[in-house]
Amino acid sequence: MIYLDNAATSFPKPEAVYQALDFFARHDLANPGRAGHKMALAAERALDDCRHLLNQFFHGEGPERFIFTLNCTDALNMAFKGVLKDSDHVITTNLEHNSVSRPLRAMELAGKITLTRLAADSGGTIDPDAVKRAITPKTRLIAMAHGSNVLGTVQPIEAIGKLARARAALFLVDAAQTAGVIPIDIQAMCIDLLAFPGHKSLLGPTGTGALYVGPAAIVGAWREGGTGGDSSSETQPRDYPYFLEGGTPNVLGVAGLSAGIKFVQERGLEPIHRHEVELIELLASRLEQIGGFEIFGHRDWPRRVGTLSFRCESLPAAELGGILDQAFDIAIRPGLHCAPYIHRAIGTFPDGAIRVSPGPFNTTDDIDALANALAEIKL
Ligand code: ALA
Repeated sequence: MIYLDNAATSFPKPEAVYQALDFFARHDLANPGRAGHKMALAAERALDDCRHLLNQFFHGEGPERFIFTLNCTDALNMAFKGVLKDSDHVITTNLEHNSVSRPLRAMELAGKITLTRLAADSGGTIDPDAVKRAITPKTRLIAMAHGSNVLGTVQPIEAIGKLARARAALFLVDAAQTAGVIPIDIQAMCIDLLAFPGHKSLLGPTGTGALYVGPAAIVGAWREGGTGGDSSSETQPRDYPYFLEGGTPNVLGVAGLSAGIKFVQERGLEPIHRHEVELIELLASRLEQIGGFEIFGHRDWPRRVGTLSFRCESLPAAELGGILDQAFDIAIRPGLHCAPYIHRAIGTFPDGAIRVSPGPFNTTDDIDALANALAEIKL
């Protein structure tokens, strides 16, 4: 089969990830930090090694500030529910995934926060000046995606981070679509909270993700419980990462994530990004040759990740996705992509669009096969 749904989760993983998972599961899969024996220490070391890799990769202010989570949604919820206080004002955008939109909207409906949702321009980019105009003395948080999971457009987060810092608002970046494919420098970009999954472009297994918590962000306790250390304390130990990491962590997944990060570092972000964007550029030109498709998002390819959404004039997205899967063995994601606001803005609500998202192991042959299948379906 041809897998073109890497924006949902990357597949396949690098061989080194499968090997790391297999080795770790057979040799080191103890409960990290819960005992002094050699296996427990090896498991603890796997967590530490990954935190160091992440701190170097994203230029954070300390490995202990990377809190392992179940996924990016878990990290985002930890941030929103941990930092927001009554009457805070939050700025977000219409590009967001439901993992940002839903918790914020629920807090707004509960009367806890006020919310400003900025609209992207017709190409799919948020204007930093619009963010600047929306900031008020009550703005506690600016929360936005680095890359749209529908349009693939990359947002000017460095400019927005600097605005946030100048006005003493916290800046949260949802890097679900960019971590592992677009450079992120936490310090240079003035990011206070960075949420990202391990299982997308960082090429780790599902069940992995993290929240980076910068020094300005005071996050309340999230999941209180055992940490393996300081068992005598009646409440959650305050030191990071343990304050936010109660319970046995997914140490097996983290061992696989480290192997994924090392693969990305060795291959290089820029070649991976260029490869994925070249594939969607090729697809866009093939769709234009075939005709009858509407492609969404601007065409400034370097400012995009390798995600292309389009609509077929003659077939609803769900039907087209089903035919590609059943008749051609090609996996793409049709529908609303858990991002209803941007689908409303581009006029594809409620049917949604077809989203194609190649990964580092896809080839031009895969795109040719998809384009040929679409041409055949349209006959
Ligand atoms: N957030 C993932 C996607 O966009 C699941 O498909």
